[in-house]
Amino acid sequence: MIEKIKPLAKPSGFKFTKKKAQAKATDKLTISLDVGSHNTKMLVGRLKPSGILIEKALMELTPANSYSDGDVLDAGQLTALLKDMTTRNRIASTDLVFSVESTKFIKREFALPQIPNEDIIGLATYEMMQYLPIDISEYSIAPHIIGEIEEDGAKKIRVSVCAVPKSIIQTYQKLFTGIGLNPLSMEIHSNSIEKLIQFHEKSSPNSVYANKSVVFIDMGHSFFNVSFYEKGLYQFNQVIEAGGRDLDSIISKALNINEKKAEKVKREIFRKISVEDLESKYANAASDYHPGSVKVKLLIDLLSAITQWVVQINGVISYMKRSKEKSIDRIYIYGGASQISGLSSFLEKSLGIKTTVPKSLCRFTCARDIDKQIAVADYGNALGAFLRA
Ligand SMILES: Nc1ncnc2c1ncn2[C@@H]1O[C@H](COP(=O)(O)OP(=O)(O)OP(=O)(O)O)[C@@H](O)[C@H]1O
Ligand SMILES: [Mg+2]
Repeated sequence: MIEKIKPLAKPSGFKFTKKKAQAKATDKLTISLDVGSHNTKMLVGRLKPSGILIEKALMELTPANSYSDGDVLDAGQLTALLKDMTTRNRIASTDLVFSVESTKFIKREFALPQIPNEDIIGLATYEMMQYLPIDISEYSIAPHIIGEIEEDGAKKIRVSVCAVPKSIIQTYQKLFTGIGLNPLSMEIHSNSIEKLIQFHEKSSPNSVYANKSVVFIDMGHSFFNVSFYEKGLYQFNQVIEAGGRDLDSIISKALNINEKKAEKVKREIFRKISVEDLESKYANAASDYHPGSVKVKLLIDLLSAITQWVVQINGVISYMKRSKEKSIDRIYIYGGASQISGLSSFLEKSLGIKTTVPKSLCRFTCARDIDKQIAVADYGNALGAFLRA
């Protein structure tokens, strides 16, 4: 069961019911989890006033058919995985924060009159009921103030509302408590990143994010999540059905190997050739071009799939620019597929917007054996989940 969340200007995520859950994570050793369709990422660390201190960064393959699109398919397999990760790595904490995203989460934006914070949840729920053909009692609602607007001469607050099926929250709660973990909060990936940006701005006066309009793209295995932030405030996000898996599937078919092997081949290919190289060699191959070798055909198909990613991303960015009438200063890419060599330059060239990996997402310190850059690329969502309100 989930309690009603307290609406705050800053997103507080979805809290689990346990009394203990109200304790602050600050300075306590905490586990932060991001389960993906390919990798399960786990950080163990402490939130200190000076930043996040990461003691362990762990990543394991998510068991096949155990998780999909933010939801648990096979609790038994995930239980075994999490148990194994926590015991094998001798994790001396049971407190857990969690970041997740799904196309099953419903997001809408409303302009509400300036009412006290505690009344926002009621009005936001009412608005959701008016606009969506859903049984609202089956959803947990989290409103999030994202700005102000003037409408008919009156100042209003702009509220982004996220509705998460209670069944999903309950499934995770059962899964975590079943293995002795104490789930404290569940956050949406876009809000986890927002917290990192805000934490960065607070701790670095010359933050690269200050007063900027930026887009973060989480490039995963099954989905890309494109999120837009203005002056550190979340504005909008869109999940796209695209991911590293698209390339595995092309390689699997071309070479007649399974997707697991294809994934390894993909990494091998991009270790040797960057997307930019692919583009300079094959971008002008006409559609009726018949490559002489399987390898060349495969490379052309990979380039074409990545070009299709750009088309999809561009669709979301054009929508953001058009509907919000905003410009975008920079795109930051993270997530596993962002590590494909030359991808950021390819996106930059194709979209005409400066695109990089986020060099400094927030002030965090890692144990000596953790590479900071990898920590951001792979663990961005889990990092942000530490910063629960
Ligand atoms: N160096 C690399 N080169 C190419 N692809 C890579 C590299 N590193 C990771 N990937 C790809 O990134 C994907 C995994 O990324 P990530 O862990 O972010 O996905 P996920 O969170 O499990 O998926 P999702 O969020 O879509 O459910 C896989 O497709 C993997 O092959
Ligand atoms: Mg992911």
